[in-house]
Amino acid sequence: MIVSNPEVFDFSYIPEKFRFREKQKSVIESLSIAPLLSGVANTVSIYGRSGTGKTATVRRIISGNTEFRSYYFNTISLTNVRNILLEIIHGGRTFVMANQPYTELFEKIGQMRDKNILLVLDEATNIMKFDREGIYNLIRNKELYGTNIGVIFITMDDPSLFLTEREKRSMGLFSSINFPRYLSSELFQIVHDRAVEGLFPGSFDDGIIESISEMSEPSGSARVAIELLQKSAFISTHRGGKTIEMEDLRTANSIISPYVTESRLSGFSYDDLMVLLALCRALHHSSSATTPEVLSSLTILMEHYYGTPINRLNFYRIVRKLENSGIVEGRIIGNGYGKGVTKVLAINDIPVHILEEKIESILDAM
Ligand SMILES: Nc1ncnc2c1ncn2[C@@H]1O[C@H](COP(=O)(O)OP(=O)(O)OP(=O)(O)O)[C@@H](O)[C@H]1O
Ligand SMILES: [Mg+2]
Repeated sequence: MIVSNPEVFDFSYIPEKFRFREKQKSVIESLSIAPLLSGVANTVSIYGRSGTGKTATVRRIISGNTEFRSYYFNTISLTNVRNILLEIIHGGRTFVMANQPYTELFEKIGQMRDKNILLVLDEATNIMKFDREGIYNLIRNKELYGTNIGVIFITMDDPSLFLTEREKRSMGLFSSINFPRYLSSELFQIVHDRAVEGLFPGSFDDGIIESISEMSEPSGSARVAIELLQKSAFISTHRGGKTIEMEDLRTANSIISPYVTESRLSGFSYDDLMVLLALCRALHHSSSATTPEVLSSLTILMEHYYGTPINRLNFYRIVRKLENSGIVEGRIIGNGYGKGVTKVLAINDIPVHILEEKIESILDAM
C-alpha cells in the first residue's frame, strides 16, 4: 500500500499548505473584496494557464467568509448572465421566464437579504465573448440598478487579448491579475506537500518528486504534477510495489495525455471529430490556423472520409462546441488598424500528433 489518503488527490481537495499564491491572494482581496465590503463592488479578472491555482485561490478566499454572500459558477455549462441571475434568485429551482428584463432580475437581487454579493465566474472566456449584453449589465450593476455585486472572472488568457477594442470600451476598465506557470522548484514543494499528506512515509523519495516537477515544468501546472504523483502511486500499488519507482512515473507520464484526451473526445460526434481532425491537419506547420484554413483542410479530409458535407453554419457551431470543451483555443486577432479582425484556432494542451492519431482511430471505428 502506498496511498494512505486518496482524497488528497481529488481536484476539489483543499491542501493544508497553499504556497506561492499569497501575493495574488492579497491583490484579489484588496482589489475585489475590500471594495465590495465598503459598498462599491467592482470587477476583477484572473487569468493564467491550466493548473496555476486560479480556482483554488479564489475558493480559499470565499470559503469560510461571513461578510458577504458568494456564488461560484463554472460557466462552461451556464453560458449566459440571465441564467446565472436566475440561479441566484431562485437557488437552482428553475423559474425560467424567457427574456425577463434585467431591471426585474437585478431588482429581485436587490431585495435579497444579503446586500454584498460576490459572483465568481470560472472558465469565463465564452460568456465574456458571447453574452456581451449580459456582461455589460453585470459589470455596471451598481450604477444601473443600485445593487452591490462584485464580479471575479477567471479565464486562461488575459481578457485584453480576446476582447475587441469595442468590447473593452463598453465593459470599462477592470484589473487583471496574472497567475504565472509554476517553476520546477515550486512544483517540487507543491507535490512534496501532497505526497506527505496522501502517501505512506517511505513510499517515495525526493528523487521521484524532483522528476515529477521536471516533467511537469513545461506546463507549469500543479494539476499535471499532482496527477503524475497520483497515477504513479496507483501504478506502483497495482504491480505490488512498496515504493514509487522511476519506471512507475514513466508509465504514468506516457498514459496521461492520451488518457485525458480519450475522455474528452468521447463526447464528440462524427462531425465534431472531423472538424477537430481538420484543425490538427491545418496545424502541422504552424501554431494556429484561421477558420478559412480549417475549412479548406476539412474539404480535403471529406474526400477521404465518408459522411454528409458539413455546411458553414454547422461548422461554426462545431467550432464553438470544441472551444467550449477546452480542447480548442479560439482567439480574435486584429489585422492592423482599420482592417478588422480574424479568428484563429489553436490546440495548446495536447501534442497535435497524439490527438490526431486518437481521432483517426476513433473515426475508423465509427
Ligand atoms: N500553490 C499551490 N499549492 C498547492 N496546491 C496547488 C497550488 N496551486 C494549485 N494547486 C492544486 O493544483 C490543482 C489545480 O489547481 P486549480 O484547479 O486551482 O488550477 P486552475 O488554475 O484553476 O486550472 P484550470 O484553468 O485548469 O481550471 C488543484 O488540485 C489545486 O489544489
Ligand atoms: Mg480552474
